[in-house]
Amino acid sequence: MGQNIKGKVVVITGASSGLGEATARHLSTLGARLILGARRLERIEALASELHAAGGSALAVKTDVTNRTEVEALVQAAIDAYGQVDVILNNAGIMPQAPLEKRQVDEWDRQIDVNIKGVLYGIAAVLPHMQARKSGHIINVSSVAGHKVLPPGTVYCATKHAVRALSEGLRMEMTPYNIRSTIVSPGAVATELNNSISDPEVAEGMKAFYQQVAIPADSFARAVAFAIEQPADVDINEILFRPTAQEV
Ligand SMILES: NC(=O)c1ccc[n+]([C@@H]2O[C@H](COP(=O)([O-])OP(=O)(O)OC[C@H]3O[C@@H](n4cnc5c(N)ncnc54)[C@H](OP(=O)(O)O)[C@@H]3O)[C@@H](O)[C@H]2O)c1
Repeated sequence: MGQNIKGKVVVITGASSGLGEATARHLSTLGARLILGARRLERIEALASELHAAGGSALAVKTDVTNRTEVEALVQAAIDAYGQVDVILNNAGIMPQAPLEKRQVDEWDRQIDVNIKGVLYGIAAVLPHMQARKSGHIINVSSVAGHKVLPPGTVYCATKHAVRALSEGLRMEMTPYNIRSTIVSPGAVATELNNSISDPEVAEGMKAFYQQVAIPADSFARAVAFAIEQPADVDINEILFRPTAQEV
């Protein structure tokens, strides 16, 4: 199975920390060639150097997923360097949860821009290339919050529900092109995600919850590898996983 990962060109957004970083490390050990996107260039450059030093192949491209041109440039960098894109992992995301009555409208906008529009820009950037090749795999990151509505994460949940809806439509529309579409929906995984919560009370509660139940990020990386390593005629549509200790 691992043979289906070796040599594949994988673009990862949000590769500078958490789930994206862990996935880059894991896929690199399995022989994937990586293009790492995030805003914190120094982090993805250091990661690319580390993967190189270990015998892997990785490029870092500064990318803000709310900027359509930058997402197109990220994908083009992969095509220029490696001639193709086999997989895109639309992973970049933020979770600034707060009760609706606090009217954090700027945070609502940012969540929609990063978590929904960022995913759509990733899809738009790879589609012409993958359709022309009649081959490709688009992996979008939703969440348990894409299955349940959990206040005060109402807007975050809405964005993650949207990711599942657009991924399912994408899957159906892309069947004539042999393009696979996978949703990965994690529960609580230990990353930097809670740092995006500006509301002190909510942040405290979430941090306590994560301290209790969160599992390491390689759980997510293995789920992504499982989806990629399947034969081309098998599309893992969704992987929903939680820490064993997570009830909700
Ligand atoms: N951890 C969990 O429990 C959990 C559970 C379910 C779903 N998720 C989802 O998993 C994904 C990854 O999050 P994480 O848990 O790994 O959190 P994280 O450690 O905070 O990582 C988030 C990543 O997204 C990037 N990012 C944020 N805004 C961006 C932008 N405008 N443009 C480009 N990159 C941007 C960050 O990079 P820069 O800041 O360098 O740009 C960072 O690499 C998110 O979509 C999140 O919603 C996480």
